[in-house]
Amino acid sequence: MNTCGWCRSCLSGAGTYCSDLYARNFGGRRPDGSSSLSLSGETVSSAFFGQSSFSTYANVAERAVAPVPKAVPLELLGPLGCGIQTGAGAVINTLRPAAGSSFAVFGAGAVGTAAVMAAHLVGCSRVIVVDLNPDRLSLAQQVGATDVIDASQGDVPARIMDLTGGLGVDFALDATGAPTVLRQAADSLALRGVVGLVGAAPPGTETSFETGLSITRGWTLRMIIEGDSVPQVFIPQLVELWSAGRFPFDRLVRTYPFEDINAAFADAETGKTVKPVLVMEQ
Ligand SMILES: NC(=O)c1ccc[n+]([C@@H]2O[C@H](COP(=O)([O-])OP(=O)(O)OC[C@H]3O[C@@H](n4cnc5c(N)ncnc54)[C@H](O)[C@@H]3O)[C@@H](O)[C@H]2O)c1
Ligand SMILES: [Zn+2]
Repeated sequence: MNTCGWCRSCLSGAGTYCSDLYARNFGGRRPDGSSSLSLSGETVSSAFFGQSSFSTYANVAERAVAPVPKAVPLELLGPLGCGIQTGAGAVINTLRPAAGSSFAVFGAGAVGTAAVMAAHLVGCSRVIVVDLNPDRLSLAQQVGATDVIDASQGDVPARIMDLTGGLGVDFALDATGAPTVLRQAADSLALRGVVGLVGAAPPGTETSFETGLSITRGWTLRMIIEGDSVPQVFIPQLVELWSAGRFPFDRLVRTYPFEDINAAFADAETGKTVKPVLVMEQ
């Protein structure tokens, strides 16, 4: 992730809300308008996430670099730069549930499952996971979910209310990006609960909430980018937790030789692989 370093957010340590975040990470160009890649004299789009790294060596923005210990397998660490730090950070940095809180995660992809591991790690008493994919629900159970719900079966908020004795959950996280799911997450909250949104939807997407009666519930909606992480601080912490066996995000990763990139995409789309990683022979 590349950030400018001098806008109000960056200077406040909240670089994931950098005023130039979109251009620097998704604009296909460096901040001066140039590209770091070319092919036979033709300019090629670059700087995706401040890097663009489908190569043996990558020309990246200095602010997008996070040092990691040499001993840790490098092919495992790529996912920490986006999805994994987003899910874990949404719990550890943003929502900060106290030990004993209840937490519901909607969507058990890489982002949601990282949130499940983090909620388990910080001592949530109930970690309820909602997804449509039974394999992903089963993986979530192996890494900290106390209860799982198949979203295709019935009224999800009602089932969460049942599981929590009618209270609802203290925290919910939408890691799907579907407006209907965000609404379900909000409807599953306990009094004064907080729902975080990390799932990304296309620009212009709207979600509707009941605001007549639910004002009395004092709930909060928080939009979250990259788990509010300062990558140079948070990624080494996640690596340390992984090394100690307390954050087993390697369970989500499956590696593919670079030539099998289409299979990796297909497996991500069908949900077979949670986090595909492409490995290039040096
Ligand atoms: N906010 C950020 O900074 C940030 C960072 C990384 C990723 N994202 C976004 O987070 C989302 C999740 O990313 P991912 O890599 O885990 O994706 P993913 O596609 O692997 O996971 C999404 C999961 O949601 C599940 N799902 C779909 N519809 C559902 C429903 N109706 N009810 C319950 N579950 C449902 C899918 O089965 C899937 O397992 C994406 O939208 C991604 O773009 C946001
Ligand atoms: Zn900035």
